[in-house]
Amino acid sequence: MTEQETFYVTTPIYYPSGHMHIGHTYTTVAADTITRFKKMTGFKTYFLTGTDEHGQKIERSAKQAGLEPKEYIDGIVEETKALWKLMNIEYDDFIRTTDERHIKTVQLIFRKLFEQGDIYKGSYEGQYCTQCEAFWTSSQILDGNLCPDCKRSTELVEEESYFFRMSKYQDWLIEYIRSHPDFIQPPSRANEMLQNFLLPGLQDLSVSRTTFTWGIPVDFDPKHVIYVWIDALSNYISALGYGTDQDDLFQEFWPAQVHLVGKEIMRFHTIYWPILLHALGLPLPKQIFGHGWLLFGSDKMSKSKGNVVYSQPIIERYGADALRYYLMREMTFGMDGNYTNEAFLTRTNADLANDLGNLVSRTVAMVEKYFDGIVPIPSEYLEVDLELIEVAKKLPMQFEREMNDLQFSNALQEIWKLIAACNRYIDMTQPWILGREDSGKSRLSTVLYVLSECIRFVAVCIGPVMPGTPQRIYEQLGLDDLMFKTWNSLHSFGLLPSGIKVKKGEALFPRADITKELEALAQGQEDKPIKPQTEVEESLPTVKPIIGIDEFEKLDLRVAKVISCEEVPKSDRLLKFLLQLGDETRTVVSGIAKFYDSENLVGKNVVLLANLAPRKIRGIMSEGMILSAATHEDTALVLLSTQGDITPGSRIS
Ligand code: MSP
Repeated sequence: MTEQETFYVTTPIYYPSGHMHIGHTYTTVAADTITRFKKMTGFKTYFLTGTDEHGQKIERSAKQAGLEPKEYIDGIVEETKALWKLMNIEYDDFIRTTDERHIKTVQLIFRKLFEQGDIYKGSYEGQYCTQCEAFWTSSQILDGNLCPDCKRSTELVEEESYFFRMSKYQDWLIEYIRSHPDFIQPPSRANEMLQNFLLPGLQDLSVSRTTFTWGIPVDFDPKHVIYVWIDALSNYISALGYGTDQDDLFQEFWPAQVHLVGKEIMRFHTIYWPILLHALGLPLPKQIFGHGWLLFGSDKMSKSKGNVVYSQPIIERYGADALRYYLMREMTFGMDGNYTNEAFLTRTNADLANDLGNLVSRTVAMVEKYFDGIVPIPSEYLEVDLELIEVAKKLPMQFEREMNDLQFSNALQEIWKLIAACNRYIDMTQPWILGREDSGKSRLSTVLYVLSECIRFVAVCIGPVMPGTPQRIYEQLGLDDLMFKTWNSLHSFGLLPSGIKVKKGEALFPRADITKELEALAQGQEDKPIKPQTEVEESLPTVKPIIGIDEFEKLDLRVAKVISCEEVPKSDRLLKFLLQLGDETRTVVSGIAKFYDSENLVGKNVVLLANLAPRKIRGIMSEGMILSAATHEDTALVLLSTQGDITPGSRIS
């Protein structure tokens, strides 16, 4: 017996700095789809996803929420796992970069690279964008020192730093990429990496920071934390136990077959990561696939731009399979595409409700009507039958070829060619006419058998993309036995046993009234960008460590009256308040715009932390913090106020 081939696939580890949106869902569904396909075709698979939890951005988001970073992240991680469950994502492991196993491995990697001279200590000066956590060189930075990515202001930072000698490996990598044409996919991205980064020459990479602490400390120089990319990229091997004495998974699954990533992080995956691995003496992943972006208009959907679409409201109304189908079908993997609710609903109606749904319901209804629900024994095959059978027989091979190239959309189109051929076949053979006369019965038995068997082919093939749908089809066909639901069972046409009893069920995908659904979806996105799972709601942050009254008394809490309140331009989160506290007025910026209309707050009393160090937010100096109560997920928030009349400025204790 030959050893089972392995297939290790990964998604990027996502930043838990906010809720995951449909862009993260996209990569994760692609990884789940290819994993399910490989598993179905006999591979031993391993699918890794997770979260990238360190860095200044997370440290700041947590601080704004008044939480410790880990506390802040835990809620989002639970929510992310709940989302993947809703999407029917079956990962084998979920790595968090705050896992002890990961921290140990990253420290080991850093030490090893330092000891062998690939990492050295120096100092760094550059324009740093805290939002993107990226340093930019003078040639990359935009006028006014704006970040080329998010267009926000950057800061000039100088700090002591460890550096990785990227330059040492540059020629090796150029040669590697040129001699391994499948390594970077799509091929245009390989060219981009060579032309834009490798051929102009690599600079040594700063790999530690001293300006923040939320990271993995360099164990031999703990005032440094290991900077985000060595930390993040190592997840792909730390999760497998690399560098520990429990490295069975590493031995079995490394090198990965494919890292799926968005195109914006190709540079890190196709330059830094291969060099790091090579320096560690490890083999490289077989392929890095950089897919395109889901756009919102012409802009990339992203948390930091706030123009995102969330998956939950869509799944709640149409199920995970409809969304999975849309994501895999609409865009060519590797190219950008738009998500709009309208395009989603149109495609769901056309492909799922009409083409697939009607084929199944019509076929099952006819077997019920003409054969008492029993799938008939076919008689002689005519030309028209053989033509359709030929389309079905070719499907597995064509589908497999497209799936192996990660061309999910083409793979689905191959299935839909068979569905369309079946629907045409019904029009040509006109079973309702055959059913009128006894003489048509024998012909009708062939037609309905061929259709039922084609539907079985469709059901098996759609499984990796739409894992919940095949079973619903098998139930309608009355197909129980596992042996007719496998990939191998598609090797010959005609295995479907005659004599099984079909059972009409609910429509697989009910037709949507697009105008009505568009309204409901828009509302769903507003109401609950993310549906908190009950267990998440219950896991409110644990109480912080006990403090004495002296520590509490350091807080100067005051009643303050809202004199004016307006939205901060270009922000959907921030309101700018002018507050009265006794004789004094204060300007305060608060992130509550999603929950309150500015005009409704004028004249109200709020509670102000008056001795908080002033801080510039969006160019406005904010002098204090307005207190509010929020759920752990920030899905609900209310301002604290006072009961009864009280003079603004009064002390709160
Ligand atoms: N933490 C890093 C990745 C480290 S991997 C070692 C990171 N995280 S992220 O939260 O910003 O996630 C980025 C990834 O999410 C993209 O590479 C892509 O896989 C997915 N997407 C996020 N927004 C997307 C779109 N608008 N469209 C398609 N995919 C998107 O980068």
